[in-house]
Amino acid sequence: MKVLVIHGPNLNLLGDRETDIYGQTSLEEIDQALKDRAKSDGIDIECFQSNHEGDIVEKIQSGKDEVDGLLINPAAFTHYSIALRDAISAVELPVVEVHLSNIYSREDWRSKSVIAPIATGQISGFGMNSYLLGFVALTDFIKKDNA
Ligand code: DQA
Repeated sequence: MKVLVIHGPNLNLLGDRETDIYGQTSLEEIDQALKDRAKSDGIDIECFQSNHEGDIVEKIQSGKDEVDGLLINPAAFTHYSIALRDAISAVELPVVEVHLSNIYSREDWRSKSVIAPIATGQISGFGMNSYLLGFVALTDFIKKDNA
């Protein structure tokens, strides 16, 4: 089994950026925690971050036939990127959408996700644990789907 992890724009600044909202953990630390978990579960993992919508679309497209599921924090693209939504729909893979912050407890416009309706599920508000919980939920779903 292989999982592709995608981080959207500005998440490369984690640990430095609005730490009151997003915490002190860096993106490298999140990726390392996911890789450690994947290793102990015997699962292959690839982590990718980009600030560019087109690069993320191309990465998602390249996942078709290459990976078994997507774990994605679309960051600001969550709220308006139909291009990302269409790419995710096109690859027909299980997808778990994650957010460090609780997007429902912040500005009104953040509670709209254009990705959520086509995702398998969403985890929001647990900081770095959103990714780890999302990873477990996704890999469990893939196992059961293929059983
Ligand atoms: C975020 C929430 C988004 O609204 C925001 O634009 C981000 C990060 C989160 O992980 O909490 O960049 O996706």
